[in-house]
Amino acid sequence: MQKKIRTVIIGMGRMGRTRYEAMRRHGGFEITAVCDSRMSLLERYPEHVYTEWKRCIDGEQPQTVVVCTVNAVIPDIVCYALERGCHVFAEKPPGRCAGDALRMKACLGKNGGQVLKFGFNHRYHYSIMEAKSLIDSGFLGEVVAARGVYGKAADLNRQEWRNNVELSGGGILIDQGIHMLDLLRYFVGDFTDIDGFTDHLVWKESVGEDTAFATMRTADGKVAVFHSSAIQWKHKFDLDLICTNGYIALNGLLTSTKSYGEERITYYKKDLERKNGKIGNPKEYTMCFDQDDSWSYEMDEFYGALTGKGGIKNGTVDDAVAVMRLIDTIYGKKNGIGAGVV
Ligand SMILES: NC(=O)c1ccc[n+]([C@@H]2O[C@H](COP(=O)([O-])OP(=O)(O)OC[C@H]3O[C@@H](n4cnc5c(N)ncnc54)[C@H](O)[C@@H]3O)[C@@H](O)[C@H]2O)c1
Repeated sequence: MQKKIRTVIIGMGRMGRTRYEAMRRHGGFEITAVCDSRMSLLERYPEHVYTEWKRCIDGEQPQTVVVCTVNAVIPDIVCYALERGCHVFAEKPPGRCAGDALRMKACLGKNGGQVLKFGFNHRYHYSIMEAKSLIDSGFLGEVVAARGVYGKAADLNRQEWRNNVELSGGGILIDQGIHMLDLLRYFVGDFTDIDGFTDHLVWKESVGEDTAFATMRTADGKVAVFHSSAIQWKHKFDLDLICTNGYIALNGLLTSTKSYGEERITYYKKDLERKNGKIGNPKEYTMCFDQDDSWSYEMDEFYGALTGKGGIKNGTVDDAVAVMRLIDTIYGKKNGIGAGVV
């Protein structure tokens, strides 16, 4: 029989509900309690309910804590849970700056033995997983350059926590761009040389930026170009991977609203001898995906790590620190790349 892990979920907004459903579908988690500072969100749940997260952790003594609150509180809850011996799954971003991610890493190191995973969910989309196995197969050679564009239509005047920098840590970069930065690291490698900035191109009065750009280079000379936008005015996800022997394009991303379009991967192999096509127009292959099982795959990996059947490969604390250092660098904050590891 599957071992049940006693779990509480803190933050029962959109992501808390998504994680709750994924854990229920998985079957290996016994959710004993849910917590949100807004009681109105908890009424539908049969589990114990709490409006104060410390009381929830102390009262339930869970094995695992899932953190889906607003960004500002994530590090405090993660550290409190780790210090009490709990395993933790926490949403991205891992806090509001690299210092937050480093604090969580230090808490994990102090206690040892626990599992800590962050919700870099995009790695589990079918197009991303397909691209990863294509690259790992060596069929197209090595990735040497990448271009990532992630954009949405956002109203930065809306009264919500994402538009309150105290709670969110920033604008579109830390909210959505973080996923693309994580993917660029995943496919290209660790960036050591970064030139980037954020701007308010349309939402001049908002505190959080509507635009972020960066060019980045790894120590072994691979490059990436990154653009995160709240003013794309139409949802868009495009990632190009240029390899020594071919090319991969990822276009669209399947979400519940389907607003990022169909999820597609297209690839072709370099064909300078015109074996399979014309010069400049090689034979290409496309796969489309009409299902998003990313939330389930993510929980499978977490559960596997909790039950000793594998480690955390995606969303490790080191991924968290590295991506937050990229973000700090683009924001021009200390603790960015080149600041040394604290
Ligand atoms: N992995 C992904 O793809 C993904 C997607 C969307 C959001 N997120 C992340 O998930 C987190 C939540 O985002 P969301 O879209 O669900 O927002 P949301 O506003 O729907 O939910 C956040 C919830 O946290 C609760 N909360 C805030 N402070 C709290 C506290 N101190 N104690 C208990 N509850 C508290 C709020 O009342 C709210 O219900 C954010 O960190 C966000 O960046 C991740």
